[in-house]
Amino acid sequence: MLYDSFGRVHNYLRISVTDACNLRCIYCMPEDRVAFTKKNKLMSPDEIDRLATVFVKLGVNKIRITGGEPLLRKDISEIIDKLSRQDVSLTISTNALLANEYINVFKAARIKSINVSLDTLNPEEFFLLTKRNQFEKIYSNILLLLRNNFTVKVNFVVMRNVNENSINEFIEWTKDFPLEIRFIEFMPFTGNNWKSESVFSYDEIIDLIKSKYSILKIEDSRHDTTRKYRAAGHLGTFGIISTITKPFCNECNRLRLTSDGKLKNCLFSKNETDLLTALRKDEDIVPLIYSSLSDKKEERGGQFDAVEIINRSMVSIGG
Ligand code: 5AD
Ligand code: SF4
Repeated sequence: MLYDSFGRVHNYLRISVTDACNLRCIYCMPEDRVAFTKKNKLMSPDEIDRLATVFVKLGVNKIRITGGEPLLRKDISEIIDKLSRQDVSLTISTNALLANEYINVFKAARIKSINVSLDTLNPEEFFLLTKRNQFEKIYSNILLLLRNNFTVKVNFVVMRNVNENSINEFIEWTKDFPLEIRFIEFMPFTGNNWKSESVFSYDEIIDLIKSKYSILKIEDSRHDTTRKYRAAGHLGTFGIISTITKPFCNECNRLRLTSDGKLKNCLFSKNETDLLTALRKDEDIVPLIYSSLSDKKEERGGQFDAVEIINRSMVSIGG
């Protein structure tokens, strides 16, 4: 089992398979982004599978495929198929733009739950947020996923004076659709112009929703980063991920692998451990994993007291 020095068991691995994306979300993708990682620096399907095998032997039982946008990889079906043969619960995060092409691949891999990012229900605002005119396609793909009986969790990054006005529209959406909306406090990453004033907090989100709906608390499971609720009488639910104002690091069970094969022990860790180079040299990566884990800080990479947070951009970590 993978314990860190605070006694936390790590059984959940998030694997980013690309840092390319077909959207340009302002909170994720730096504006001056010039090039994506070249193919020979990315983990191949076989390398992803070999690394996953090592983690599964060490106790990992849940894997999430992330990006960038994972469905942009030409060999994503092979990656999904390989990982579906591991003894894990497999999930994926996507912007859903290409999801209609992969319904059968998801089903064959017995993927049950899919996380989709969508931060507004207004097509013009969607363009401002993502620099692409793709709202309708994404909206219809979310409905398509629901019709195919996938659990769909919608990630909504809340930014003050940008999209907080849409929060209650998403709550309305849960009335007749069995969605789980997750409002995420805006987090700082390289190149995303984060300011503390732009964070629309957990308390503010709850107050805004309560001004229109009566809400009921749902019990959270142990490692859940989302605090869940339901608006009375609604089919779907909502939750809040409050990394900034109420961090939940004490129950953290996650590790992250970047698309170029570097292990990050926290979303906000400064350090990375290069597993892919070691794998390519046929070296034993188990000691590298243990050493990265023993270095894990108690909360948010130990970085939130610093003036400047040193990290990658979100698109290259994978959420
Ligand atoms: N703050 C909070 N959440 C973010 N995401 C991307 N960038 C940020 C940010 N700056 C979320 C998106 C995406 C998930 C992978 O990460 O909602 O769905
Ligand atoms: Fe792409 Fe997702 Fe980042 Fe938006 S949040 S740019 S969809 S990776």
